Amino acid sequence: MTAENTAQARLDPSREIADIDRRLFGGFVEHLGRHIYDGIFEPEHPSADEEGFRTDVIDLVKELGVSTIRYPGGNFVSAYRWEDGIGPKDQRPTRLDLAWHSTETNEVGLHEFQAWLDRVGSDLMLAVNLGTRGTEEALDLLEYANADTRTRWTEQRARNGRSTPFGVKMWCLGNEMDGPWQVGHRNADDYGKLASRTAKAMRMLDPGVELVACGSSGRDMPTFGSWERQVLDHTFDDVDFISCHSYYQERGGDAQEFLTSGADMALFIESVVAIVDSVAATKKSDKRIMISFDEWNVWYLFKEDGTESGHEFKGGAWPVAPRLLEDQYSALDAVVFGDLLITLLQHADRVRSASLAQLVNVIAPIMTEPGGPAWRQTTFYPFSITSRLADGTAVHVPVECGTVASKKLGDVAAVNAVATIDGDGVSLFAVNRSLTTAAALRVDLAPLSPQLGRDVSIIESHLLHEDDMYARNVLGDVERVGVRAADAAVADGILTIDLPAVSWIAIRLA
Ligand code: AHR
Repeated sequence: MTAENTAQARLDPSREIADIDRRLFGGFVEHLGRHIYDGIFEPEHPSADEEGFRTDVIDLVKELGVSTIRYPGGNFVSAYRWEDGIGPKDQRPTRLDLAWHSTETNEVGLHEFQAWLDRVGSDLMLAVNLGTRGTEEALDLLEYANADTRTRWTEQRARNGRSTPFGVKMWCLGNEMDGPWQVGHRNADDYGKLASRTAKAMRMLDPGVELVACGSSGRDMPTFGSWERQVLDHTFDDVDFISCHSYYQERGGDAQEFLTSGADMALFIESVVAIVDSVAATKKSDKRIMISFDEWNVWYLFKEDGTESGHEFKGGAWPVAPRLLEDQYSALDAVVFGDLLITLLQHADRVRSASLAQLVNVIAPIMTEPGGPAWRQTTFYPFSITSRLADGTAVHVPVECGTVASKKLGDVAAVNAVATIDGDGVSLFAVNRSLTTAAALRVDLAPLSPQLGRDVSIIESHLLHEDDMYARNVLGDVERVGVRAADAAVADGILTIDLPAVSWIAIRLA
């Protein structure tokens, strides 16, 4: 490679992908580690409001711009009894959480979480327990949450302070049921039958719900593909979405491989689309099952020695709110993360919902210390900027550029980009995946003149790049990594942007 790669693109609005569903910018809050307790809920914290929620965290979650939030798990949900989290707090049981080998106090449950969502301005997406429980308990929860009649459950809801329904639209039929680590794990055939029965019954109670069947917990699962086919064989007519989960990390010191994670995610999405559409074809149906990418992130799940993180307490104590999965993200992680967001936007026609896993303290863009500060991790920036600037319609921006070599995927485009067009302007998001070589990206804006006129100007630009790509924001140095203005200009209808090696940018044009 030369010292600088050139990359050429044309921003053509006719390369439309789809309108952007705001649910693409969803989050995920699980009862796990210090996510709820000592994260969003810390009654003794100086910033806590009357219900015990940290207002400094609320402000950061608002700034992050998360639409729908999936709750309460994750692995946690597969042994969770939702009734434990309702009613007077002093009567709620304390229970063992098998998923994370912790003790759950149930101080926060459905009502408290909804109260927190009202403060942050996000919508609730619920997961039901199909691990230790089944259709009946899912129906009980749905009736409690959404029914507008006078029944035992709704009267109990009113006594617990909520006479109007929660009105939860999106429901996950269990979590990662393909994973042997899941409480109640089962094979695709058994899960498919249970999910279908449960979905049919839930729709009888509330026809307005949107339902998500569990897909694979990753493209590398041994059952990937056959799992989706078999589950949809049972549930095709009953569900709207199939889920994808995927986590990425640098392994074996190979940062270049890690930088191609966006291409890996694209392959995962395109493979799932091919599989679900082949099921549609065999069923002679024109129904299109959409993807809920309801767990995605960078996660250092595997430690250097190959063991999995997050299981520190197994076989030992059962602590309350232990420090688990508290990854500290680097600038490199944030660039990969920005590319994952670009990839989701590039597939906005089929990925109609996505949840960043997770939000606070646990593999999170926001960190807190008990009694201390709350701060933005590096990954906070690409999420908050993309969520704020990506609106309207997503548009393909194919880039002619060099490639980087991936051991897994072969040659992968060094520069990846996507644009969005709305009534007020155009946003462009791009990433340079090369570990070594900067890129000069030239984007021809001529096809945009009907939208933007001839006087196109940059009204905002953001560059995420650090000479030390492992720089992080940590307690004591919480603003080490941020974004700064990108080196970009528009002249004669051409937008030029300098993309240093390992960088992510967002540009707003109007
Ligand atoms: O997000 C952390 C865990 O990752 C979730 O609980 C589980 O669904 C996945 O394996």
